[in-house]
Amino acid sequence: MATFKFAVLPGDGIGPEVMSAALDVLGAACAKAGHELSFTTHDVGGIAIDNHGTALPESTLEACSNADAILFGSVGGPKWENLPPKEQPERAALLPLRKAFKLFANIRPGLLYPELTDASPLKSERIPNGIDIVCIRELTGGIYFGEKKTWQTEDGETAASDTMLYKTSEIERIAEVAAQTALARGKKVCSIDKANVLETSVLWRKTVTAFFKKNYPEIELSYMYVDNAAMQLARDPNQFDVFFTENMFGDILSDEMAVICGSLGMLCSASLGDIKNSLGLKFGLYEPAGGTAPDIAGKGIANPCAQILSAALMLRYSFGQDEIAAQIENAVRKAVTGGVRTGDIAFGKKPVSTTEMRDAIIAAL
Ligand code: NAD
Ligand code: IPM
Ligand code: MN
Repeated sequence: MATFKFAVLPGDGIGPEVMSAALDVLGAACAKAGHELSFTTHDVGGIAIDNHGTALPESTLEACSNADAILFGSVGGPKWENLPPKEQPERAALLPLRKAFKLFANIRPGLLYPELTDASPLKSERIPNGIDIVCIRELTGGIYFGEKKTWQTEDGETAASDTMLYKTSEIERIAEVAAQTALARGKKVCSIDKANVLETSVLWRKTVTAFFKKNYPEIELSYMYVDNAAMQLARDPNQFDVFFTENMFGDILSDEMAVICGSLGMLCSASLGDIKNSLGLKFGLYEPAGGTAPDIAGKGIANPCAQILSAALMLRYSFGQDEIAAQIENAVRKAVTGGVRTGDIAFGKKPVSTTEMRDAIIAAL
């Protein structure tokens, strides 16, 4: 019997609703295997601004440092959109958390069950066997973290700039994650960039080419420009197996991948780095790729699957519990393919609530 120690940061909007469902599923799955959960819950994002005057309170950061993993909901929303940009939840809490724990690799699995092709905007003939691809997004570099400024020009205009910056070491370490992911799958990787325009992409492509040639000659490496990749994802997603890309391209492409795989409400993620937890496994932050969904927050109808599947990834990567992780993933699959679906993936089926979805998954366990 083991105890899994993690910090829970539900955040804003639908965050607390889907988090509560995920903790119930996690608790049920772990209890069945004779394990215990030990977590503390902390404010982050807008709610932390309201309660503590800052989006990432010291106490929250400290709780994360003392835990073996972070289970994160999502942050932000209309209530905090008029604060100074640097104080807003996304920039003042989520990005600093990723940076503080050096979580440079964000893994987003694009999985569409064959039984769920009706929830994809793609025609079923194009994806007869569903979709199974992985997006690996660089998460602590690029335009998100380079120098930002706003200034007055000499001719009286306001100008602003964001800087996209990458170093070879940052590119190599994300290439390594892509390579390891590919080795465990189809030994095929596509690197996505904009090397016809951006210097960072020229360096990215050069570094990736040398890295794979030297370390992973057995992996089939291809390249694609990001505009073409956006189109190819919609045309034939399964031509990819593992694709990896810089921070902002990965942000955009993963939302596209999510809807092609049915819904943003199904897309989980693991953010990992090199920091080890007290078990000698990877410290990680686990969160749905989607946001706080202000349009449906508070209605009890959000899809909890992305949060539940993120919790499964936490068990796999930070607690070494592959088997329980797979049980949760299978239970989600069984519930959803059995016809229990929230509104975002209902398409003709009667939509269920967040808690009904949760109960169906626990029953499937
Ligand atoms: P969003 O992802 O919150 O919502 C986009 C659309 O997807 C909405 O129609 C929403 O209802 C739907 N959706 C998302 N998750 C869903 C779920 N689990 N079930 C059902 N439907 C779901 O994106 P947005 O509207 O651009 O952003 C809203 C807020 O969330 C913003 O403040 C944004 O910055 C923030 N955000 C936070 C995170 C994060 O904390 N990781 C991620 C993305 C956006
Ligand atoms: C995501 C989100 C975040 C990002 C925002 C909320 C900062 O969109 O995790 O995809 O852009 O990384
Ligand atoms: Mn995003």
